[in-house]
Amino acid sequence: MTTNSWGLYVHFPWCVAKCPYCDFNSHPLRGTLDADAYVAALLADFRSQTNNTSITPFQTVFLGGGTPSLLPPDAFAQLFEGLAGWLAPNAEITMEANPGSREHWDFVGYRSAGINRLSIGAQSFAAAQLHKLGRIHQASDTERAFNLARDAGFNNINLDLMYALPAQTTAEAMADINQALALGPDHLSWYQLTIEPKTEFAQRPPVLPEDDSISQIEQQGYAQLAAAGFARYEVSAYAKGKLECQHNLNYWRFGDYLGIGAGAHGKRTTAHCLQRTQKYSQPRRYLEHSIHTEVATVAAPDLVGEFAMNALRLVEGVSKDRLDQALGQQRLAATTLAEARQQLDEIWQPLIRKGLMRADRFATTALGLQHLDSVVAEFI
Ligand SMILES: C[S@@+](CC[C@H](N)C(=O)[O-])C[C@H]1O[C@@H](n2cnc3c(N)ncnc32)[C@H](O)[C@@H]1O
Ligand code: SF4
Repeated sequence: MTTNSWGLYVHFPWCVAKCPYCDFNSHPLRGTLDADAYVAALLADFRSQTNNTSITPFQTVFLGGGTPSLLPPDAFAQLFEGLAGWLAPNAEITMEANPGSREHWDFVGYRSAGINRLSIGAQSFAAAQLHKLGRIHQASDTERAFNLARDAGFNNINLDLMYALPAQTTAEAMADINQALALGPDHLSWYQLTIEPKTEFAQRPPVLPEDDSISQIEQQGYAQLAAAGFARYEVSAYAKGKLECQHNLNYWRFGDYLGIGAGAHGKRTTAHCLQRTQKYSQPRRYLEHSIHTEVATVAAPDLVGEFAMNALRLVEGVSKDRLDQALGQQRLAATTLAEARQQLDEIWQPLIRKGLMRADRFATTALGLQHLDSVVAEFI
């Protein structure tokens, strides 16, 4: 894996309804969606950011949201036509799909437009939980969407599930995992529900399971997923048969990516520094000024922390070579690589002695992964 492997993130900022736990840049869709106008804005954005750059063809594309599946397949065909020449052959192209947006279950159309991986937002299979989470779908919608997608030829499907849901018992959380596994997905994202500031749940917090119950859910969940052949390769990501999400792996290995669409973030390594890019979040403002990109340079002292925050999410972390490559490329505060490594070692070595990090790779131990936040905090 080199940092020359670029990813492309494309954001779609609309949903049928806003879920009370969600702090993604998503807005309830009022009226009809002008897909042509949005695709034109995305392509103008793309051209403005790729003008005079040395970006290599994208190995991965992630169509995220919001709910990208509110757009019909021909909108994506149009988008990919505009990106012709920029996508690597066999690029992984993922689309997030909400099982509630039934009117766009044209999975045959999405597949023939070029999308080859789906991420379906199941969240739970329990009717009462789906209701509390404000979801617009039933468990049967997830099952139907999944089966239609398989029939349409999708052979790489992720299901998003959440746990530690309001008043959820361990048995209920395991039943959710079992129902997800029964569909035969290739990948599972199993997220602990977090209460994010400025969401409806932050204002009216639901009663969540106690910490001890959450640990019990996690221990049983890891065992159940492992028994079903799902290898945990990141804090919340589990893959069967090596079908890890290549797009997200690039984030965690601290690779570069271009972000287009309302509120999209990007990251690029220049000869002198690391830059983060950000687009206008408000859909209307974005549509009017899609070629506007804010660029901020990451302050050198923050780089090690940012690298650790990403790389240590991976169960295997990253190799020492990858660590040196990232540190060297980013020319930390104009120090030499040796000086940067020395700064890092002053934090890393005590963590090795405490049994929280490995010495052979820049990675946590199993114990360190359980205390990831405090390990990462040491580097920040
Ligand atoms: C952008 S959303 C996925 C696609 C689609 N919008 C949907 O919800 O079906 C990405 C995923 O993040 C997870 N997620 C969102 N908010 C979360 C929160 N507060 N805590 C834990 N997971 C969350 C959900 O599993 C969700 O499917
Ligand atoms: S459908 Fe997905 S993106 Fe939209 S509000 Fe719900 S969780 Fe957020």
